[in-house]
Order: sequence, then C-alpha cells, then structure tokens
Amino acid sequence: MSKLKIGIVISTTRATRFGHKPAEWVKSIAAGRSDMAVEILDLRDYPMPFFDEVASNAWVPTTNDVAQRWQKKVAGFDGFVFVTAEYNHGIPAVLKNALDYAYPEWNKKAAALVGYGAVGGSRAVEQLRLIAAELQLATIRTGVYIQGADFMAVWKEGKELKEVSHLQQGVKDMLDQLAWWAAALKTARQQDSVTKAA
Ligand SMILES: Cc1cc2nc3c(=O)[nH]c(=O)nc-3n(C[C@H](O)[C@H](O)[C@H](O)COP(=O)(O)O)c2cc1C
Repeated sequence: MSKLKIGIVISTTRATRFGHKPAEWVKSIAAGRSDMAVEILDLRDYPMPFFDEVASNAWVPTTNDVAQRWQKKVAGFDGFVFVTAEYNHGIPAVLKNALDYAYPEWNKKAAALVGYGAVGGSRAVEQLRLIAAELQLATIRTGVYIQGADFMAVWKEGKELKEVSHLQQGVKDMLDQLAWWAAALKTARQQDSVTKAA
C-alpha cells in the first residue's frame, strides 16, 4: 500500500495561539515513520465565514470558494490528527466551522485526537468524538493530552514538547493505531469504489 496521507489539523487561528506547537511536534514524530506522509492543515489558510450555505455539502454543493478549496484539501487525506484547544470546555468555534464545511470528505476515514489545556483539552477531545461520529470519522482510542504542569511548562515557560519524555510514547501509540485504522478504511473505501464501478 502507498503511504497513508495524514492531515494534522490545527484547531485555532488567533495571532498568539499555541496550537501550532503541538501540531509541529506531532508532525516531527510522524515524519519519522515510513507508513505515512503528513501535512499540517492550518485553518488560518482557510478563512471561511461562519457557515452560511443553504445546506451541508452532504446535500447541496457549497458556493463559498475558500470552503470549496478546504473540501478539496480534506478529500485528499486518508486520516487526520486533530490537535485541539479547549475553549470553555468545548472545541474552538473555528474548528467546528471547518468541520461543518465538509461532509463526504470526512466520511469513512480515521481520526486521532490530541488535546492541550488545564486538563489536556480532554473535554474538547470527548466532544470532538461525538461530532466525529456524525461525520462518519472513526476516532481511535489513544489520545494525547498535554495537561497540567506539562501544559504550563510548554505554554508559559518555553519548554519544548519533545523534552516532555512521558508524552512521546503516547504519540507513537496513537500514530500506530491511526495507521491501522486509516489503512483498513482506505482498503474498504477502495473496495467500495470497485463494487460501485462493477
Ligand atoms: C476563549 C477561551 C476559552 C478557554 N477555555 C479554556 C477551558 O475551558 N479549558 C482550558 O483548559 N483552557 C481554556 N482556555 C485556555 C487555553 O487552554 C489556552 O489559552 C490555549 O493556549 C488555547 O489554545 P490556542 O493558544 O491554540 O488558542 C481558554 C482560552 C480561551 C481563549
């Protein structure tokens, strides 16, 4: 099988955000693997308005040109790592908006979840699992939670995530599981298209 295409989604866009740091860290670990090709998906590059279409693109094609570009980009991946902040115990609105702006492009793919915040963004991660179910995105079990003193050290004190040794194994385990599910679903999607073409 050719390399799995994995998109690492940064969930925040504000000027002083922290979100690109964990995303780059996960990317640097994933880049050392032979089974996946990873790319950062920065929502700053897709400045979509708050959802303002007549319907989800599950039913009606989207008119906004940035959203069309976003859908095309998402369509090219076999799986995703969502690196999410927690804003008032939920996922950031910009991430929810980006999720809403695609539908078939998410379907039948795998997703891994990384959270950061006081409790590792875990409340946002759990919320994201519920949203993913509706998008037909299969979330894998092992998440990575950058929390408490670890979060404070990298967020406020300049420590690098690669120095937090106990988090490294979690990223490896998460990526192993993501690769298994992304490969299984890729095979199943290919089988679907063969069946449909027959
Ligand atoms: C609007 C807002 C709400 C927040 N709510 C939470 C929260 O519920 N739980 C938490 O752990 N941190 C919360 N924080 C602190 C964030 O964890 C911290 O600011 C983090 O850096 C946000 O991610 P970002 O820098 O990528 O935007 C909140 C921050 C903002 C801006």
